[in-house]
Amino acid sequence: MPKRTTIRDIQKKVDGGGRVSMVTAYDAFSARLVDAAGIDMALVGDSVGSTVQGRADTLAVTMQQMLYHTEIVARCAPGPLVVGDMPFGSFQSSPDEAISNAVNFLKAGANAVKLEGGAAVGALVARMTRAGIPVVGHLGYTPQSVNQTSGARLNKEKEDLLQNAQRLADAGAFAIVLEMVPAAIAKEVTAAVNIPTIGIGAGAGCDGQVLVFFDMLGFSPEFSPRFLKRYMDFHGQALAALKQYKSDVEDGSFPAKEHSY
Ligand code: KIV
Repeated sequence: MPKRTTIRDIQKKVDGGGRVSMVTAYDAFSARLVDAAGIDMALVGDSVGSTVQGRADTLAVTMQQMLYHTEIVARCAPGPLVVGDMPFGSFQSSPDEAISNAVNFLKAGANAVKLEGGAAVGALVARMTRAGIPVVGHLGYTPQSVNQTSGARLNKEKEDLLQNAQRLADAGAFAIVLEMVPAAIAKEVTAAVNIPTIGIGAGAGCDGQVLVFFDMLGFSPEFSPRFLKRYMDFHGQALAALKQYKSDVEDGSFPAKEHSY
């Protein structure tokens, strides 16, 4: 059984000049692929709301759903450090409820939790880390605030980002996701804090990168932000295969002799 990546491994990789890879995973299919590729960290993202549930945003995702996906990913991906994404509403109402939800992520097999926000969640992050719950912060564009920001927006608030990143690092977060931040600002934030930054739409100056599994593999041709690199055209290939199957069934060429008993 391969050894699971730890927080210390991540920090060591970055300290040694390496870059950290993170990809989202939600089910056995994505978890096994992420694991087989040797990706450092698997994020059970609340992006499950859009990628798997077909919603316009992540707001409806529940703790129960996240725990279901986290258990599958932790079981099917024994290699990467598994991060459970705290969904909207799971950490805003009370610190006790937030801690209890984070504990449940770890009980489901996650090695850490991620939550969106900066200084506003600083005290909570400190409490979580004191309780033995490793935390990844998330700054820049934070999708759970989509109604406040009126859509996905580049976050150019340099001073704000620097202060919030420092607050998260001081509170004990072991890494910070930077989403949709100009490359030059993300580079400054990365230099300013002593924990790894993991960028998505934040340029090459971060200590690592994260992409959404379905987006990077081309499941969703309609989603094409500038930051996304598509490594394959899954949608195109799967669609062609399904059409071929339909035609084979209709003209009787499937099943052939070799598919029959
Ligand atoms: O939910 C998610 O997939 C995320 C990544 C985009 C960082 O938060």
